[in-house]
Amino acid sequence: MTADDLKKLAAARALELVRPGMRLGLGTGSTAKHFVDLLGLRVAAGFEVLCVSTSEATQAQAVALGIPMSTLDETPELDLTIDGADEVDPQLRLIKGGGAALLREKIVAAASARMIVIADDGKLVQTLGRFPLPIEVVPFGLEATRRAVAAAIAAAGSAGRLSLRQRADGTTLVTDGGHYILDAHLGTIERPELLAQSLNVVPGVVEHGLFIGLASGAILAGADGLRLLGK
Ligand code: A5P
Repeated sequence: MTADDLKKLAAARALELVRPGMRLGLGTGSTAKHFVDLLGLRVAAGFEVLCVSTSEATQAQAVALGIPMSTLDETPELDLTIDGADEVDPQLRLIKGGGAALLREKIVAAASARMIVIADDGKLVQTLGRFPLPIEVVPFGLEATRRAVAAAIAAAGSAGRLSLRQRADGTTLVTDGGHYILDAHLGTIERPELLAQSLNVVPGVVEHGLFIGLASGAILAGADGLRLLGK
């Protein structure tokens, strides 16, 4: 089975959690894309849900599939969000933002009674940090913010290079919110809570990819089958 097959397996299991009439948050990334495809099939067969997306890409996919869409302004409380992750640890702490959608993903997750992560089991790690931590920053004052971010990382006991995320064509990536992303190559994050707190107070940092206390469960697909974490 390929990693993509595993992602689809996790997405299919997550679909079983969806009940008629639910208000759903739709994640971003290749795994969430499978979930949205499967949800689209169900909606086409008459299933009723109301959804909020976490990115322009997911919004376009969902609209094309005919999934009824809303916004957090119209529907500020969601029942369930299904989203992927770049890393998951056994305490359900996550790194997200590999697809640059971390800001809307965190807002939508925080507005949801439950957030369930779907992933292949290669995303499960004992210690977060091998995947570079995305930090979304405003373009104004970038160099000053970069230095403040580096200091915040050091104050939290971590260390590593910061890189400004580029698109494939060599231009600087701009998020759906009009911001840049600094990727922090930390290797390991020994104290994720402390790092999150430290980054939260840096002026110019809009959001970071540490999702702590947001996921209630994870569906991880591996060659041996599905593994469920949390509830
Ligand atoms: C998007 O910004 C991310 O948080 C994704 O959810 C994450 O990168 C997982 O993506 P894949 O499902 O493509 O691995």
